Amino acid sequence: MTAQTDTQAKAPTPTKKLYVKTYGCQMNVYDSERMTETLAGQGYEAVDTPDTADLVLLNTCHIREKAAEKVYSDLGRLRKLEKQRGTPMQVGVAGCVAQAEGEEIVRRMPQVDLVVGPQAYHRLPEMLDALDEGKGAQVITDFPVEDKFADLPKTRKSSGPTAFLSVQEGCDKFCAFCVVPYTRGAEYSRPAPDLLAEARRLVDSGAREITLLGQNVNAYHGKGEDGDWSLARLVRAMAEIEDLARIRYTTSHPNDMSDDLIAAHGEIDRLMPFLHLPVQSGSDKILKAMNRKHDADSYRRLIERIRAARPDIAMSGDFIVGFPGESDEDFEETLRLIRDIQYAQAFSFKYSPRPGTPAAGAEQVAEDVKVERLARVQEALLESQATFQQACVGQTMPVLLDRPGKFDGQMMGRSPYLQNVHLTVNADRRGEIVPVTITEAHRSSLAGTLAA
Ligand code: 5AD
Ligand code: SF4
Repeated sequence: MTAQTDTQAKAPTPTKKLYVKTYGCQMNVYDSERMTETLAGQGYEAVDTPDTADLVLLNTCHIREKAAEKVYSDLGRLRKLEKQRGTPMQVGVAGCVAQAEGEEIVRRMPQVDLVVGPQAYHRLPEMLDALDEGKGAQVITDFPVEDKFADLPKTRKSSGPTAFLSVQEGCDKFCAFCVVPYTRGAEYSRPAPDLLAEARRLVDSGAREITLLGQNVNAYHGKGEDGDWSLARLVRAMAEIEDLARIRYTTSHPNDMSDDLIAAHGEIDRLMPFLHLPVQSGSDKILKAMNRKHDADSYRRLIERIRAARPDIAMSGDFIVGFPGESDEDFEETLRLIRDIQYAQAFSFKYSPRPGTPAAGAEQVAEDVKVERLARVQEALLESQATFQQACVGQTMPVLLDRPGKFDGQMMGRSPYLQNVHLTVNADRRGEIVPVTITEAHRSSLAGTLAA
C-alpha cells in the first residue's frame, strides 16, 4: 500500500510520510518505534529516507558533544533538502538534545517545528494538531508524573525475532560526567503487569528474544500485584512466557547487581550469558571523582561472583579516558582492570564535558593525552575481544537466526554472547534457534556451519 493510492484522509489509512532518524542508545531505538506507532494512528506511514517525508523526526542523543552537534548538521542538510524538493517538510527534534536544549533549538534553527523531550512523546499528536492550526513552533520538555507509555497504543508488534522492551527510564545515580539524570529525569520503573503484557504481545508477533532496556535497568523496581518487583523477579516472570527463548537486559550499574539477580544468571537458562556492566575507570581516585560509589576491587569481586554463578558469562563494559584529574598512573589502573576482567566486548570514549554536569567546569585533560589514552585502551580491549572471539572457534552454540546475510543462502544470527554469526542455511529460517559450529572468528562477527 502506498500513500499515492490512498484517497481517503481518515486515519489510520496512511496519508502522510514520516521519517525517523535515531541517534545514540537502544532506548532511543525503542522510543522511535513507539513514536512511529503513535503517529501511525495519526495517518503517518514510516519511510526509509527523508526525501519525500512530510514529517522528519530526529530522535537525538546528548551523551557526548559529537552526538549533539551531529543533530545541527543534519538539520542544516534537511533545510537544503526541503528547498531542493520544493515541498514543505515539518521537522521535529526529539530525544535528549530536545530535553537539554529546548527552545534554544528553535532559536538556532528556526526551521524546526517541534521540540519534544523523551517524557512527552504521548503528546506528539496534540503538538501536530497545534502546528496544523498554525500555532507556531511547539516545544514540550516537561517531566509529567504519568507514565509516558501508558497512553501509547497497545498494539505493539515485533518487527522480527529480536525486540527491545523499555522497562525503566531515567537515573538517580548522578555520575559526575553524565547528562542522563538531567535529560531522562529521575528513575522511573514501568508496572510489571504492563511489561509482561507487552512482552506477550511481542512474542505473539514473532519475538524470540527480548532485551529489557533501562538507563539503569537493574535498579528496576516496578509495581507488581504484590508490591514492588525487582529486575530479578521480572526476569523470572518473563522466563515463564512460552516461546520467549531468550532474555537480556541492559544497561546496569555495578551497585544494583543484587544477589537475586546474580543467582538468576545461574538458574535461568533463558537469561543469556552476556552482561554489559560499565565500570568507566580502574582508578579508585577517578571512580570517586566520577561519583560512581564503588571502587575497582569491589567491581572485580562482583564479577567473580557473577562468574561463579554463570561461569561462561561474557562481560561487556564502558570506559571513559581523560576524565578531569586522570593521571598516567590512574590510566594505568584502567589498563590493569581491563586485563584482569578480560572483556568479550566493550565501548570506550574520550571524556566529553557536558554542560550542566558537575565535571564540566573542572580543568580538562589535554586533547592529545585523551587521544593517546583512547588508542591504548582500545588496543587493550581489542586484544581481550580477539581472545574471546578466537576461543569460540570449534564450539557449537545455539544461534538465533534473525536476518538474511549478504550472500545468497546466507543468514545472520546471534550467539548467546551477542555476537553476530553468519552461516549458510539455504532457506529463510528466521526466528529459529539452530546449533552452529563456529569455524572462523573475525573482529566483530563469527562464521559457522549448521551442526544439525
Ligand atoms: N563523556 C564521555 N563518555 C560518556 N559517557 C557518558 N557520559 C559521557 C561523557 N560526558 C559514556 C559512559 C556511559 C556510556 C553510555 O557513555 O561510558 O556508560
Ligand atoms: Fe549516567 Fe549510567 Fe551514571 Fe546514571 S549510572 S548517571 S545513566 S553513567
